[in-house]
Amino acid sequence: MSDAARSRSGAEPLPQGGGSVEVPRHVAIIMDGNGRWAAGRGLPRVEGHRRGVEALRRTVRAAADLGISVLTIFSFSSENWTRPASEITDLMGLLRRFIRKDLAELHKSNVCVRIIGERDDLDRDICLLLQEAEDLTRNNDGLTLVIAFNYGARQEIARAARRLAVDVAAGRLSAADITPDRLGAYLHAPDIPDPDVIIRTSGEQRLSNFLLWQAAYSELVFVPINWPDFDRAALEGAIEEYRRRERRFGGLVANTGS
Ligand code: FPP
Repeated sequence: MSDAARSRSGAEPLPQGGGSVEVPRHVAIIMDGNGRWAAGRGLPRVEGHRRGVEALRRTVRAAADLGISVLTIFSFSSENWTRPASEITDLMGLLRRFIRKDLAELHKSNVCVRIIGERDDLDRDICLLLQEAEDLTRNNDGLTLVIAFNYGARQEIARAARRLAVDVAAGRLSAADITPDRLGAYLHAPDIPDPDVIIRTSGEQRLSNFLLWQAAYSELVFVPINWPDFDRAALEGAIEEYRRRERRFGGLVANTGS
């Protein structure tokens, strides 16, 4: 088994309330349905996003408590720039407030914050906040919270290809040496193991340009509730669903020969 394949099989047994519960090492979430949650209540979309931040706080606490090592959340996609300017302003404002208000608490809870995505198009104050969050929590060894912000998987893969091409052109690397593991090392967070499970709320069943490379062997769990209603019970339910799946990574099931 290659290192990459070993790092893909990420379930970790955890003692929980006397029993042994297997939790996935890396859970990634597409937090979808804020707008529908708000529309269903006759509220403005921003209210759905605000309640989405509350759901995010609950989920971070639950993930840490359950012993999940990495939680990746899709908070702003490269394609979200096509939304009305007022909604973009709202989402940027929520990120600012989330970092300003919650960073100290995240740090106290030993959470290590990482950001993936392109920073070039972001306002300077947001870049500084993202940097501050990473710098302050860098040495924390509890939950790793990966915030995908201004993130798109195709953009991430194209960026990796560009950086590879620069190294090939400079003679630091031969084109023949480009393997999946080598390309993976040029992605935003190559040290983070691939997600064991990707959860999407709201009932939509697609990846929407989220972690396309890393999702090669992830289990996909689609939850029929909108993100603002997501809570610890919903996370546990999605993990139960994941645990019922049989992960084979392209091989055979152990001990059955089938
Ligand atoms: C999808 O709902 C959600 C988003 C585009 C953004 C998710 C953002 C948050 C939960 C809050 C901000 C996050 C941080 C880290 C501060 P949608 O608007 O696409 O819902 P719809 O499909 O029902 O319209």
